Amino acid sequence: MDAMEAIFTRRSVRKYTEEPVSEKEVETLLRAAMAAPSARNWRPWHFATIDERAKLEEIAEFHQYGKMAKDAPLAIAVLADESIEPTKEYNLQNCSAAIENMLLAAHALGLGAVWLGINPREQRMEGVRTMLGLPEDITPVAIVVVGRPAEKKERADRYDPKRVHRNKWEGRRED
Ligand SMILES: Cc1cc2nc3c(=O)[nH]c(=O)nc-3n(C[C@H](O)[C@H](O)[C@H](O)COP(=O)(O)O)c2cc1C
Repeated sequence: MDAMEAIFTRRSVRKYTEEPVSEKEVETLLRAAMAAPSARNWRPWHFATIDERAKLEEIAEFHQYGKMAKDAPLAIAVLADESIEPTKEYNLQNCSAAIENMLLAAHALGLGAVWLGINPREQRMEGVRTMLGLPEDITPVAIVVVGRPAEKKERADRYDPKRVHRNKWEGRRED
């Protein structure tokens, strides 16, 4: 699958078969994540792979919109390392770039994935901290749930020319 095809056909997948994600596929997802751009190339991220059923069930418990995790073979927590990026200013952007790369790579591999928002919701961040035993200077950003798709999602065309401004703010435009 080429890059444009992957971008335009990626959708969130929340239903999975029981088949596991292979070690090789996990490594490809992590390589894609770590290929992302980051401010000053600091790469201030860590990734925790989660395939223990009890922990996948724990995600479903502390995350209201993460119920799919309990039936998924894999989740990957994306963590920002505050000790690497001393300003901490761009940590969310850096990690978000890695997350999107991972979602696109999952799709290109024929896997299905969904981004679960964690940061800045305190209760969800605490859930991840407790589950993984994180130190203070590691900030949970998101969890990506991954599996083999058991649902088919249609391509979505969301291009909206009214949201495009040329050389200056052109105002909010009506249909
Ligand atoms: C910051 C962020 C947080 C999200 N959190 C959740 C979530 O908690 N649970 C979920 O099922 N989907 C979550 N999503 C996925 C969005 O619901 C999804 O991307 C959006 O509805 C568009 O659908 P698509 O991904 O199929 O194109 C999140 C996406 C982003 C970018």
